[in-house]
Amino acid sequence: MATVPHIKMPLPGPRAAEIVKRDSKYVSPSYTRDYPFVMAKGEGAVVEDVDGNVFLDCAAGIAVNSTGHAHPDVVRAITTQAQKFLHMSGTDFYYEPQVALAEEIASIVPVGGGSGEVRSFFSNSGAEAIEAAIKLARYTSKRFNLIAFLGSFHGRTLGALSVTSSKYVQRRGFGPMLPGVFHAPYANCYRCPLGLKSESCAAECLDFIEDQILVHLVSPDEVAAVLVEPIQGEGGYVVPPAQFHQRLRALTKQHGMLLIADEVQSGMGRTGRMFACEHFDLDVDIVTIAKGIASGMPLGVTAARADVMTWPPGAHASTFGGNPVSAAAALATIKVLKDGLVRNAEVVGEYLIGRLRGLMDKHPIIGDVRGKGLMIGVELVRDRVTKERAVTERNEVVQAMFHKGVLILGAGRNAVRFCPPMVITKDQADTIATIFDESLTQITAGR
Ligand SMILES: Cc1ncc(COP(=O)(O)O)c(C=O)c1O
Repeated sequence: MATVPHIKMPLPGPRAAEIVKRDSKYVSPSYTRDYPFVMAKGEGAVVEDVDGNVFLDCAAGIAVNSTGHAHPDVVRAITTQAQKFLHMSGTDFYYEPQVALAEEIASIVPVGGGSGEVRSFFSNSGAEAIEAAIKLARYTSKRFNLIAFLGSFHGRTLGALSVTSSKYVQRRGFGPMLPGVFHAPYANCYRCPLGLKSESCAAECLDFIEDQILVHLVSPDEVAAVLVEPIQGEGGYVVPPAQFHQRLRALTKQHGMLLIADEVQSGMGRTGRMFACEHFDLDVDIVTIAKGIASGMPLGVTAARADVMTWPPGAHASTFGGNPVSAAAALATIKVLKDGLVRNAEVVGEYLIGRLRGLMDKHPIIGDVRGKGLMIGVELVRDRVTKERAVTERNEVVQAMFHKGVLILGAGRNAVRFCPPMVITKDQADTIATIFDESLTQITAGR
């Protein structure tokens, strides 16, 4: 591939424009495409569109291409498995890749205190992993209420949507939701819901659960589970303080509620640890995984303490879930992650955060740079004191970066999310930071 990025023409090029036009006639208009990137091929953190324009990928298919595009080990595992058999349904039959994957997951998840006494249910997506977690929590606890957090995203199937509280467009027109779901404020220290200072914070936002929800709305002994993203993803890449998770863990234990960590976006090495829970010393009862686990093959996992996952045959299943090709891709992915990419996410992530923080002096529009590893959010504001959200400006930066050859996405209302494939090099991170810098200069000029 040529120098990266390399944009040869005004975007979209003719072939991309033609495909986008066909898409607009036949494909569901519910998808949220920010710009007309039409993929032809990719390698590592570099992607090429159908007109031969070359981009740096800082989105990784929404945090999915963990090992980069077409990692040879993953492609080999997929090919080898595909040549043997594509499907046999783990619901009715056995095949080794699925068992091997369950064994591997039991050894890496922040569940069961490192005992390895963990069982996995396999599905095809993050939302399905959440559905399984909700059903499992209800089944096991014999309680039906759930507590989740404002700003959270857990998926768009109806159960997952009921716990999601990200953007109203995702819920509008689809009610009523699942009954018995209560939302509490998340520990967003940059915008503390209680106006407190993070230095002296004792996770007072959780008082809302103890003093309001569990007093006025629902009896603690009727709450099945609390569902939390260890680092909030779609909500804006928000990193809570460790005391938030520790206090939440204590609260759930006190009331016999299960704690579910949604690691769909934050898991699989992205934060520089295999799971974001590890940053907070957090051990949970159930964890949900998807996105990066199989480098792009569809796979959802709901892993739980063995004594929590005791539902009987037929209680929950999926025809395709944990299919042999996805399982093989996941096993190869986990090996590649363990062999160096988790560490690379930590090292290059720290470097990229440093570069982005370094831009704060030059660009007052940068309100906050936060994150762990390669899960980095930059919040744009019109004023650092009032923290007025720079929503239009954020959207413009995303566009500007696309036209300069970087694929990037927003998160939350006014944050830019940096979540490149974890094979990214320091040089590539530098290029991304430079193009971000140039784009900020461009969109703020004359404002
Ligand atoms: C934390 C989290 N949970 C669940 C989901 C839903 O995953 P999927 O889109 O695969 O259904 C997402 C997707 O962005 C997510 O970020």
